[in-house]
Amino acid sequence: MKTKIEQEKIPLRTLSSGEKIPCMGIGTFGSDKYGAAEIAEAVYGAVKCGYRLIDCAAVYQNEKEIGQTLKQLFTEGEVKREELFITSKVWNDMHGEGKVSSSCRQSLSDLQLEYLDLYFVHWPFPNYHAPGCDGDSRNPDSKPFSVEEFMTTWRQCEALVDQGLVRYIGMSNMTIPKLEAVLPLCRIKPAALEMELHPSFQQPELFDYAISHNILPIGYCPIGSPSRPERDRAKEDVADIELPAVAAAARAHQVHPAVICLKWAVQRGQVPIPFSVKEQQYLSNLMCTTEDPLTEEEMKAICREDQNCRLIKGQVFLWEGARGWEDLWDMDGVIVTKE
Ligand SMILES: NC(=O)c1ccc[n+]([C@@H]2O[C@H](COP(=O)([O-])OP(=O)(O)OC[C@H]3O[C@@H](n4cnc5c(N)ncnc54)[C@H](OP(=O)(O)O)[C@@H]3O)[C@@H](O)[C@H]2O)c1
Repeated sequence: MKTKIEQEKIPLRTLSSGEKIPCMGIGTFGSDKYGAAEIAEAVYGAVKCGYRLIDCAAVYQNEKEIGQTLKQLFTEGEVKREELFITSKVWNDMHGEGKVSSSCRQSLSDLQLEYLDLYFVHWPFPNYHAPGCDGDSRNPDSKPFSVEEFMTTWRQCEALVDQGLVRYIGMSNMTIPKLEAVLPLCRIKPAALEMELHPSFQQPELFDYAISHNILPIGYCPIGSPSRPERDRAKEDVADIELPAVAAAARAHQVHPAVICLKWAVQRGQVPIPFSVKEQQYLSNLMCTTEDPLTEEEMKAICREDQNCRLIKGQVFLWEGARGWEDLWDMDGVIVTKE
């Protein structure tokens, strides 16, 4: 019998609509290391132990298997559909006119759902790379961000809300200059912003921007993605679980440093979506939101560990003529639109 965490004990976060969602979800990207069946089984165990937010995406190639899991959970009466908050994302090759709806419908069919709670634009440009590709691979069709193209995609997301297929829409892998350009054009504002967030990469400006615009930050790679694919590893990367302030707090609280990264994320106010297929890990990850919080001093010490260390640089999405992965992230404060 799996341990069940009481729902009342799990802190909640509030969307701009006033709706409450859990302060943590479970990720489902297997990092080219964990297979679909294994991940679906982890989702089953995670929901049984108390997770209610599941972060899915078409490109993770496991929505069919997760759909079977969800069906099983509903059939067994473990949880009702309305008790879950399920996200998915449109992949970069499905941005074009008319494609977003078919991508969303495919995810709904795979997940065996009638609606999604939140549907993200996974990346803000239509640049495609094959799943499992290596870090040097480039697609000759890749192009820089375009407000017009992005809004074509966003308008289709807004239509999905109108049609009742998704309840909220969100953006992912955005920058402040891109948000500044598109937010005034949105009829339906993003409810959430999915972004890389962990102790060595805290993105304070983007985080504050999201909060001040009533957009909930959802933090991916919250543990620093120790199992991430080879293409997302660089020699200058920092290991979050080895940071001195994280390690010191782990000793003080007698937990794994991964758990400290998550406590920090939840107490800061983002919604982390840690991945794990290991029951002990995903259980302790959710459990840590309900007990033994970090002290103010520990929070401050971890805050000082920020090293602006982006792990998911996205270089496989670069267009011909781009200077480097930094061009994807508008580092000079203006949208990089030309090579
Ligand atoms: N929007 C986007 O573009 C985007 C990009 C990346 C990720 N995501 C989402 O964010 C989710 C999380 O990111 P991620 O999977 O890359 O990184 P992560 O959650 O930071 O790291 C996951 C890894 O951390 C380890 N771990 C988890 N809990 C642990 C614990 N209690 N103790 C020790 N180790 C623990 C596991 O390593 P082992 O495998 O070694 O056990 C696991 O594979 C993804 O699954 C996906 O849903 C979204």
